[in-house]
Amino acid sequence: MKVLGIESSCDETGIAVYDSNNGQIWQRLYSQVEKHREYGGVVPELASRDHVAKAAPLLEEILGEIGGVSAIDSIAYTRGPGLIGALMVGANLARGLAWALDKPVLGVHHMEGHLLAPMLAQDKPELPFVALLVSGGHTMLVDVKRLGDYRILGESLDDAVGEAFDKTAKLLGLPYPGGPELAALADSVAKSRFEFPRPMTNRPGLEFSFSGLKTAALNIVKKNQPLDDSLRVEIAHAFQWAVVDTLRIKCGRALEETGHQNLVVAGGVGANRCLREVLEKQAGEHAARVYFPAVEYCTDNGAMIAYAGALRLLGGQSDDVADSDVRARWSLESLSPI
Ligand code: KG4
Ligand code: ZN
Repeated sequence: MKVLGIESSCDETGIAVYDSNNGQIWQRLYSQVEKHREYGGVVPELASRDHVAKAAPLLEEILGEIGGVSAIDSIAYTRGPGLIGALMVGANLARGLAWALDKPVLGVHHMEGHLLAPMLAQDKPELPFVALLVSGGHTMLVDVKRLGDYRILGESLDDAVGEAFDKTAKLLGLPYPGGPELAALADSVAKSRFEFPRPMTNRPGLEFSFSGLKTAALNIVKKNQPLDDSLRVEIAHAFQWAVVDTLRIKCGRALEETGHQNLVVAGGVGANRCLREVLEKQAGEHAARVYFPAVEYCTDNGAMIAYAGALRLLGGQSDDVADSDVRARWSLESLSPI
């Protein structure tokens, strides 16, 4: 079955086709980052307009490769969570196509897309597993006993990890979205004269809080004006190390609490090299295995939506084509099992 996947929840237009018979993927991704950079963050109205401009041309490119629109068997799109206007663009395209082609359509949870992205690899994680979801909008540890059956073990009480990376990067004068740039600075040195706290690690529990790290960075920046390059690099290093160490500690706890032997890491921050190295080592210490998506499937993309949609569509799930609901907020725990 060839499933079209459409992702438009934020500032990436992702269109992909996933073939469930052989795992083949065709995909196109357009990032709006340049459009939003001068505003220092995503401007929702600009995001919606850009999705309108880019989604159909990207779809046409892919249709050219798969042999036309008649090759599509069903359609999946991101229903939420995300920016309402941006979500509506993908949803309307998906439902319009489903209506015209008389094919099944399904709205997919964006975070389920991220969570299942490591299963696009040859070496798929085995159930049950603990999933660490670290993106620009979410930070959570999830107990996954069966596909579609998600129990949130802990979430961030304030900033998501990606958001904390981006805000701290902005303090250091790096362009939006600064996460990858901050990471590159941090990786360029082996140590730092600064030490940041490991928030919420000195008490039990799997909750996170990252806004204090941004404040710690702000205090150092204020005290050390004008900021020179060596300070900037050392602040980046101390910040990244504190985030990664905090995630390491909480992942260890989640593995112990659940007794699971597999850890799945997904979401944009899952592309972080330091996080990958540290969690690889950490999993070994817990006799567990850690799985990451390919870097191209860490950040938002259409393939993860096509894949999550394919699993549910193959399981017989689909929406009423007249259903017009998209969701800014949507609990992962409310999903039905696959
Ligand atoms: O999953 P994603 O593409 O979008 C959301 O659903 O939010 O995640 C984007 C986030 C951004 O905050 C970005 O700065 C961060 O992931 N990010 C990184 C890295 N690559 C992307 N953060 C740290 N290190 C990276 N290498
Ligand atoms: Zn995302």
